[in-house]
Amino acid sequence: MAENGIKLLAMRCAGFNNVSLKDIHNRFKVARVPAYSPHAIAEYTVALILAVNRKIHKAYVRTREGNFSINGLMGFDLNGKTAGIIGTGKIGQILIKILRGFNVKVIAYDLFPNQKAAEELGFDYVSLDDLYAQSDIISLNCPLTKETQYMINRKSMLKMKDGVILVNTGRGMLIDSADLVEALKDKKIGAVALDVYEEEENYFFEDKSTQVIEDDILGRLLSFYNVLLTSHQAYFTKEAVDAITLATLNLLKTLLKVKN
Ligand SMILES: NC(=O)c1ccc[n+]([C@@H]2O[C@H](COP(=O)([O-])OP(=O)(O)OC[C@H]3O[C@@H](n4cnc5c(N)ncnc54)[C@H](O)[C@@H]3O)[C@@H](O)[C@H]2O)c1
Repeated sequence: MAENGIKLLAMRCAGFNNVSLKDIHNRFKVARVPAYSPHAIAEYTVALILAVNRKIHKAYVRTREGNFSINGLMGFDLNGKTAGIIGTGKIGQILIKILRGFNVKVIAYDLFPNQKAAEELGFDYVSLDDLYAQSDIISLNCPLTKETQYMINRKSMLKMKDGVILVNTGRGMLIDSADLVEALKDKKIGAVALDVYEEEENYFFEDKSTQVIEDDILGRLLSFYNVLLTSHQAYFTKEAVDAITLATLNLLKTLLKVKN
């Protein structure tokens, strides 16, 4: 890109795990949109939790087929359950606030705990092991870094409660997907909702409905009755897209010093 005269890479996303700043080495500027609507992602995370818990995605298909049976669709009350939130930044805090409204007990883990937020929102920071051991629902809301890559793997899933609901709206590589398939086959995990997937760039945002899915792990994940996978759409609200567009244009103006 530098050799082709690119001066600015303006990413329209919050996460910046897709660029190696070290390799770019200041040869061109890199910008992102750090916050557009954390509400969009937090609200979508709650939608996923409710959907997989109450099997709404299954019920939708059933009733459209004229099948009005509710066998197998039993969920559990969120009231009084424990949610473990990994990453208590902008999205995590809004998610916690919404979950507290359902009277869910929230425990959290963050590399940089925010005690003020904990007091205001009514949650406790715990160690990762305690979070795994105590949570009925676990949501990943931290960035993808060297430390967090594959943090959800065979070992960490063994520490979780049987039947835990796992939700990932963070980044695909937070979860070792091959290990997740094994944990699902072992019936360790109650349900999984994924808005991101580690190999998503080969599939997400494209219509592949008339093609063979060559990714065996993705294909296997899609085959589980208790997995709900969406195509990186948590951010996709009118407010967020408007904010992304405005922020990107403002960045272009500022960084390339374009006059009004
Ligand atoms: N699915 C989507 O559409 C979508 C949209 C936007 C963002 N995201 C993802 O959500 C993530 C969180 O976004 P945000 O706006 O809340 O970011 P944020 O920077 O406000 O918060 C991230 C939090 O994670 C914490 N953290 C960093 N390293 C950690 C670690 N090793 N363990 C635990 N916590 C750690 C940080 O201290 C911070 O509190 C982004 O990094 C991005 O990957 C997804």
